[in-house]
Amino acid sequence: MPQYKALVTRTLLPEALDIIREAADVTVWPEEAPPSAEELRRLAADADGILTTIMDRVDATLLDAAPNLRVISQLAVGLDNVDVGEATRRGIPVGYTPGVLAKSTADLAFALLLGAARRTSESERWVRGGGWEIQFHPMHWLGQDVHEACLGIVGLGQIGREIARRARGFDMDIIYHSRTRYPDAEAEYGVRYVEFEELLAQADFVILSVPLTPQTHHLISAPQLAMMKPSGILINVSRGPVVDPAALYEALRDGQIARATLDVTAPEPIDPNDPLLTLDNLVITPHIGSAALPTRLNTMKLAARNLVAGLQGERMEACANTDAMG
Ligand code: DGY
Repeated sequence: MPQYKALVTRTLLPEALDIIREAADVTVWPEEAPPSAEELRRLAADADGILTTIMDRVDATLLDAAPNLRVISQLAVGLDNVDVGEATRRGIPVGYTPGVLAKSTADLAFALLLGAARRTSESERWVRGGGWEIQFHPMHWLGQDVHEACLGIVGLGQIGREIARRARGFDMDIIYHSRTRYPDAEAEYGVRYVEFEELLAQADFVILSVPLTPQTHHLISAPQLAMMKPSGILINVSRGPVVDPAALYEALRDGQIARATLDVTAPEPIDPNDPLLTLDNLVITPHIGSAALPTRLNTMKLAARNLVAGLQGERMEACANTDAMG
């Protein structure tokens, strides 16, 4: 008879749930939409461990409602929905899933980069809309080359590094900016550190790959967009609020930058009446950076193992507040 109670706030693949079921009685929130804050508090009331996604707000109010909680395991690398400081103060370790999803997210970032450069979504919409009436026109659908272009990566964590690795295959000139400079990674990934303003001015493609913090909120707003090349392309695979949507709308509408692709928006989901959705030079995908089946399975299994380790008072494979681990 399992001695722990675990709450899992979204349906997972069976292989991941089985890992948790070996150690705990599991309650899985069965609906597509997440539980409301009130529902979450009710469900967490007797839980020893909780497995969360980015849609669950884990704050002091939830923790007050869950007096038995000994572990939080987040199914994501981003932790902006979790008050990690509050969990640490209460001695509750917080697991998360770095590493395992970096390559898939970098793959998607590169897909978005290629698609934006060569206007694949835009031209496909045109075909479906009945626009393709002339077989070939030498002036139609001119995009940008990716090979030998300058790529600016903002944030050189695991995802940023995997993006750089892919860019090298396209002979790109790769520059980066991040809070910390990484001389070892510069040599290994063939990237050059530059100041943020220089990156914006030089890069043909700017990819955002930073966590959401008070410092990165609206990191890209009107002044930064004004520094980019008029032919520049912005790609965001981090968190929506890193980009100021009103400023982006104006920059795209006025042709201040050429195009943008967002895998993340603020808010999510984006309002169907959001003015951004009226722009042809913008592509939005629905937060699918890590949504490749084998990666999602590995991510779920890691989150499940983190949860079980926390329940059993053992060291997690990936813990965001090691000082709270027993
Ligand atoms: C992450 O891991 O942070 C992704 O954005 C999915 O939540």
